[in-house]
Amino acid sequence: MSDEAMRSAWQEMNASKAEALEAFGDAKYGMFIHWGLYAIPAGIWEGKTMEEMGRPRVAEWIQYVAKIPRDEYAKLAGQFNPTLFDADSIAKLAKDAGMKYVVITSKHHDGFAMYDSEVSKFDIMDASPYQKDVVEALYNACQKYGIDFGIYYSHNIDWADGGDCQYAVIKAMNDAQGEKTQVFGPNLWDPSPNTFEAYLAEKAMPQVKELLRKFPGMKQLWYDMARYITPEQSYAFYKIAYDEQPHMIVNERVGNGFGDFDIPGDNKIPENADAIAKPWQTVGTLNNSWGYKSYDQDWKSPKELLFWLVEIVSKGGNYMLNIGPTATGEVPDESVRNLREVGSWLAINGDAIYGTSRWTTNHEGPTRIAVDGTNARQEQKLKVDFTASDFWFTAKTNRVYAISLEQKEKNILIRSFAENQGPHVSGVKLLGSDQTVGWRQTADGLNVRLPVELPSKIGYALEISILN
Ligand code: GLC
Repeated sequence: MSDEAMRSAWQEMNASKAEALEAFGDAKYGMFIHWGLYAIPAGIWEGKTMEEMGRPRVAEWIQYVAKIPRDEYAKLAGQFNPTLFDADSIAKLAKDAGMKYVVITSKHHDGFAMYDSEVSKFDIMDASPYQKDVVEALYNACQKYGIDFGIYYSHNIDWADGGDCQYAVIKAMNDAQGEKTQVFGPNLWDPSPNTFEAYLAEKAMPQVKELLRKFPGMKQLWYDMARYITPEQSYAFYKIAYDEQPHMIVNERVGNGFGDFDIPGDNKIPENADAIAKPWQTVGTLNNSWGYKSYDQDWKSPKELLFWLVEIVSKGGNYMLNIGPTATGEVPDESVRNLREVGSWLAINGDAIYGTSRWTTNHEGPTRIAVDGTNARQEQKLKVDFTASDFWFTAKTNRVYAISLEQKEKNILIRSFAENQGPHVSGVKLLGSDQTVGWRQTADGLNVRLPVELPSKIGYALEISILN
């Protein structure tokens, strides 16, 4: 198939998903789950931490960073017995946290399938003493709680069966064009002897197909790290998903521009959301790792998490926030606590988030925070602190929501509503409260007098009715 033919076929398939993409855009907030054998070493191999061994520092990359031979890594499966895993409580946690969907790693870069795979024996049923399909359990639990379901599948990088992940082929192609090829992710320390084509035909494609058949009605499919993948291969991964589940959306990491939605980056909020043509989703961690890392206790506070959510939503994106369960299947306490606190905020202020779109400005006020990448926050020792003049905005028909993450000030001024400049205000309501709030629109902006008691622990949200 020519490149042109692939692109136009893709365009048609993509266009048929308009409704699904709209529903995705309304949902705003979801849960990512990174869980696999890497939860056993949890960031430490033979006494060395990820930081002592190299990069990246995220715990699910331990096999790569420590260059663990395939046979040795595979032994972890024999120890994997997450008896404390409770799919119901995770789905309920997502619900309580105000999340609308869940995406779980069905197979990460290490190649181990967390579900019952007919295609490979390197899966939770055949290789672990646990012998229960955790992906299926979660799928069922999500249905019970009305949470949408999706899966993550590492299609390019498979350290167990993907050979060199096609690195040599792509390098030769790039060399011929005088382009550099970065080494990031391929198994070059102990590659499986089969070709990458054989891996695609015998493992990756059949597994994706099997997952799509096992779990009907999925909302999103999350491929990852398409570094060494040709357009034909990316197209094939997109197409197989479409053939099985035409209404499910596929992320851009399928590769080569064939995604239905974009990912600005891991733990990255786009500076300029206007530059992104497709719907988008930022993925984020609660500490500084996706997979469980035993010694990383650097948890984002509920306020920092709310900042990420509000900044992203005000720019028109979705936020998918990750939990990394332990080897026994538990979700670290602090994750649960912080997620629940964001959930209580959303229970009060959800109208300002779900189903909204961007307004003319996303934020006013002095505070600027820019984070780019999973290591960045720790390296720049990020502190989140806002003033009473920082507001984020979202919009819905004839309403604009102004969100604050501060409570210091009772008499506040929102400058974007300056008389004769901003829209004409016809009413102001404090979300989660029946008390009337005093307000006045002047040349400086919208002056609001907040009640003494505010409904949320962190900040507040105002629903501002406007006359267009
Ligand atoms: C990266 C990493 C990976 C993680 C993912 C989350 O691509 O390779 O470990 O799963 O991002 O977005």
